[in-house]
Amino acid sequence: MERNAFVTGADRGLGLALAERLLEKGWRVFAGQYMPDWPALGELAARYGDRLHIVPLDVTDDASVRAAAEAVAAVAEHIDLLINNAGVTSPTLRRTLTEEPDYDEMVRMYDVNAVGALRVVQAFLPLTDRSTMKRLCFVSSEAGSINRCERQGWYGYCMSKAALNMGVSTLFNLLRPEGYTFRVYHPGWMRSYMGGEKATEGDMEPEEAAVPALAYFLRDLAEDDHTSTRHGADRLVMRDWRGREWPW
Ligand SMILES: NC(=O)c1ccc[n+]([C@@H]2O[C@H](COP(=O)([O-])OP(=O)(O)OC[C@H]3O[C@@H](n4cnc5c(N)ncnc54)[C@H](OP(=O)(O)O)[C@@H]3O)[C@@H](O)[C@H]2O)c1
Repeated sequence: MERNAFVTGADRGLGLALAERLLEKGWRVFAGQYMPDWPALGELAARYGDRLHIVPLDVTDDASVRAAAEAVAAVAEHIDLLINNAGVTSPTLRRTLTEEPDYDEMVRMYDVNAVGALRVVQAFLPLTDRSTMKRLCFVSSEAGSINRCERQGWYGYCMSKAALNMGVSTLFNLLRPEGYTFRVYHPGWMRSYMGGEKATEGDMEPEEAAVPALAYFLRDLAEDDHTSTRHGADRLVMRDWRGREWPW
């Protein structure tokens, strides 16, 4: 049976790498496009033809999210794997309270990183409900772990990822009984575009990070049925790229 994935923030960085890996594995991919002028998704479409569908998407915009779900529903009956990857930081990220905080940027991060994922899940529910896989993935961050917080700044980003984790916990309570399975994931420190341009510092390229990420997102696909508690499907955890569990 055809397997369909939807990836948010797929223009570049981890989202693009996840989309490409899914295509390599034979999936049909719906890629959320936020940056129509960025060429990478177009290049991927040239290689994969009609298995890649580029769908305009701004996760902060209700109408855009609804239109994306409608566009997908026009050509696909179900979405099996929903990857909430879109995320932002801010140039003023590192300010501590001894400098002027940038509250507008904090609100923007909250909107993209936390509320955005909720908007997408809600709009796509009719499509994910029709899947037999029903897997919801959320790219979070170690920065969202309250228990292991060591920073003295980064307010908006850390708060937004902690809020994302709480949102996923609440979704888990609602949707796990309906057969959904969840992945909350810290991908590691990547040389992506979060700073606005390609980072020169980081532990890995997004293409490398996508390998363990997708392995975890797809794990147990063959044998994990709706009622299985194998591998802790009934316990929500945040894991990193090495499989280590992070405290909330
Ligand atoms: N990079 C790291 O080391 C790291 C570590 C831990 C977690 N993460 C998480 O990993 C995920 C992927 O990040 P990345 O490092 O691959 O960053 P990235 O290269 O910046 O990719 C994220 C993509 O999401 C897009 N985006 C921004 N706002 C959006 C919106 N409103 N709607 C839809 N898409 C939007 C970005 O566009 P713009 O470029 O225009 O903003 C960008 O294309 C994020 O959730 C991030 O928080 C990253």
